[in-house]
Amino acid sequence: MCGIIGYVGKRSATPILIDGLRKLEYRGYDSSGIGVIANTSGNIVVRKTKGKIKDLVNLIDKQKLPQGQTGLSHTRWATHGAPNRANAHPHFDDSKKILIAHNGIIENYESLKENLKRQGHKFVSDTDTEVIAQLIGHFYKGDLFDAVKRAIRQLRGAFALGVICKDHPGTLIAARIGSPLIIGIGKDENYIASDVPAILNLTRKVIYLKDGEMAVLKDDKVDVFTFLGKKVAAKVRTVTFNVDAVKKGGFPHFMIKEIHEQPDVIEGMLKLRLKGSKVVLKEIGLKASELKGINHIFVVACGTAYHAGLAGKYFIEKLTRIPVSIDAASEFRYRDPVVGKKTLIIAVSQSGETADTLAAIREAKRKGAKVVSICNAVGSSLTRESDGVLYTHAGPEIGVASTKAYIAQIAMLFLLGLRLYDFKKALPKKEVSRIIREFKKIPGRHKEILAGKDKIAKVAKKNSHFGCFLFLGRNINYPSAMEGALKLKEISYIPAEGYPAGEMKHGPIALIDEYRAVVCVSPQSDIYEKMISNMQEIRARKGKIIAIATQGDAVIKKHANHVIYVPPTHNLLTPLLVALPLQLIAYYIAVQLGCDVDQPRNLAKSVTVE
Ligand code: AGP
Repeated sequence: MCGIIGYVGKRSATPILIDGLRKLEYRGYDSSGIGVIANTSGNIVVRKTKGKIKDLVNLIDKQKLPQGQTGLSHTRWATHGAPNRANAHPHFDDSKKILIAHNGIIENYESLKENLKRQGHKFVSDTDTEVIAQLIGHFYKGDLFDAVKRAIRQLRGAFALGVICKDHPGTLIAARIGSPLIIGIGKDENYIASDVPAILNLTRKVIYLKDGEMAVLKDDKVDVFTFLGKKVAAKVRTVTFNVDAVKKGGFPHFMIKEIHEQPDVIEGMLKLRLKGSKVVLKEIGLKASELKGINHIFVVACGTAYHAGLAGKYFIEKLTRIPVSIDAASEFRYRDPVVGKKTLIIAVSQSGETADTLAAIREAKRKGAKVVSICNAVGSSLTRESDGVLYTHAGPEIGVASTKAYIAQIAMLFLLGLRLYDFKKALPKKEVSRIIREFKKIPGRHKEILAGKDKIAKVAKKNSHFGCFLFLGRNINYPSAMEGALKLKEISYIPAEGYPAGEMKHGPIALIDEYRAVVCVSPQSDIYEKMISNMQEIRARKGKIIAIATQGDAVIKKHANHVIYVPPTHNLLTPLLVALPLQLIAYYIAVQLGCDVDQPRNLAKSVTVE
């Protein structure tokens, strides 16, 4: 997710573009840039830098931008190419006539780039965005609208674009498919922006550009067209909500917004990584022969990422029979682990800056192991020190309590398991085909669960008075129970423990009485009856049970005080579904208790120290 602002009008563009960019920093903040068409020279002058928008402002203070009334600016959440100055937007074509800012992922950028290189175009960045700029420049013969039209017809993937050209001061072109872009209607000036907060202080009149639409903005008019150039009557709407609410997409907190982004995150991952029933993990950094030779996998991670890794262990072992060990990175780094040349280290980290995880992979590499990281932050330290990187592309996760990054980590581990299955087939092909079919239904199943969030909120509020929670799960949902406990404790501060349900009688059962709540993660599976036995033992001791079960399961109602249903799926995929009720239970209890859900006390989004 990135932030784009464009301006065309009679005022100086720079202050408007910078002010708008600041309001979009939540969409991405690893590098930023700005470009304006200079009134004097007529050239496009660009300033860009790695880091936050304050770094861009400092740069502009030192290296002033010329006056100009047409411009673009961009704050980046890197997807292709490390977050550095060269990869920061906006990007030129090699004639320096065309400048663009982009939000999205172009899936066919490599083939387009090779083609453009063969035609003599020189590239200066690793981004997919520069390919778009070069493509427009390639087609540009004086008619900017036509060049943009021809270029975008060759793009596959998602893009929201802003385009200016030095030959056309006073003109700004916009286009979108798959990524949001709005047009702001001002007085003698008009704007484009990735989201409403950026321009709410300038206007409340907006056009929400639709997928497959492009627009030509001048200071006194805006025309909207289809990608084929057919003019459309665009509806101008009036925005009523406040800036802060809009940054959160109308949600009260980033956490609940990010919980709702999970269907799209999985949708995007499957679109990028699952071609039919073939898993494509090109950046894994290991040759097929190396993948085939793996005889031991070691997952290292911390916190929520550790729980994702634990679910990945169950999945990968089931599909491949490759032994998967897992350590909290803080343990791995100091216990002189047994690691060999055929050990694959999988480091899981949202931020890619977690000190213990970084130390763990350095220890593993010292012992000769290969490292593949599953990470959300492009160009982070972890990714630079790994042999291969599988980016989750979940977009910036602002809420300190991880939700969409967790789901993306599990999904990526499952995709890795399916890729390794190509070498070590330990399940019948038809079962794996069923897993893939069910995997593709997960985004829709997520939406079904989210549609029932009010019921989950009711259950959560009814149980928010308990002073202690126990979360129980078995097999591949033991990690789900651990994550449910972590989510609750880190945002509501209620003591909560996650346990394998089979361990209950070995101690935790002493906790059970009418003052404790027990969350039992018990979707249909071959160990479902065992969960029912646990629930009978809990009820016998007056424990209050919230069960998470599979739709249609009427039996479980007899054993629980509350039942939250998830749609059916393959047992191995259930962690991807049960995570949502667990996240929502934690969220609604914390809200009920008046906790600071997005920035809980004592926590940091990335633990960059030991
Ligand atoms: C997640 O809810 C927690 N805030 C925390 O456990 C986090 O998962 C852990 O610190 C690891 O962070 P990372 O994924 O960035 O490495």
